[in-house]
Amino acid sequence: MSQPAPVRPPEALHLLRFAYPGVVAVITVEAEGVRNVMPAGWHMPVSHEPPMWAVAVGHARFTHALLQKARAFVLQFFPLRHADWIIKTGRVSGREVDKIRHFHLPVAPARTVEGFWIRGAYAVVECRIHARHPAGDHDIVVGEVVDGFSLPGALDEEGRIAVEGVNPALYLGRSMFLDLSTGKRFSPLAKPQTGGGS
Ligand SMILES: Cc1cc2nc3c(=O)[nH]c(=O)nc-3n(C[C@H](O)[C@H](O)[C@H](O)COP(=O)(O)O)c2cc1C
Repeated sequence: MSQPAPVRPPEALHLLRFAYPGVVAVITVEAEGVRNVMPAGWHMPVSHEPPMWAVAVGHARFTHALLQKARAFVLQFFPLRHADWIIKTGRVSGREVDKIRHFHLPVAPARTVEGFWIRGAYAVVECRIHARHPAGDHDIVVGEVVDGFSLPGALDEEGRIAVEGVNPALYLGRSMFLDLSTGKRFSPLAKPQTGGGS
């Protein structure tokens, strides 16, 4: 059977989209009194002992600048019903907009690290920055998990995420989510259908 022709950069860029579907992490960071919020689809746990989580943050992001100065960040995970503000915080920069005020995000102080989290998350992971690794136009920021919590019922009896109850914000890329409760795609940016005729 013939193989498809290989693709190389820059055409290969679209291959990165096969990272999805994936649960969106919202990164919150605070440095020198400045706070910011950024959704991240590119993140993963990277160590059991000690527990660590890595996020890929583009050099151009305000979050990147804050993470250079900060000693910690907080990751949090939300149900799909939060998709609207999650997408919107990923389309503006904290350089121009105070996203917490603009999107009326209810914040609470982190317990162990300098930072904060946004209410409504089903899981919150507080990370102390362990390392920063260059990776092209992003940096991989590795955090040691030093505290965190999840809401009751977010995990089932066997310790797996209770997807049916949580309905996590599962990202497909390009502003589209997958609603696990219906199996359908969902874009918070899609214009609502107005009534009046077929
Ligand atoms: C769902 C979603 C996932 C994203 N994932 C990442 C990511 O993993 N890494 C990244 O650098 N940017 C990611 N972005 C883009 C940033 O969130 C976006 O550029 C944001 O406006 C940066 O904000 P800041 O300048 O305030 O840091 C994502 C955007 C969305 C909407």
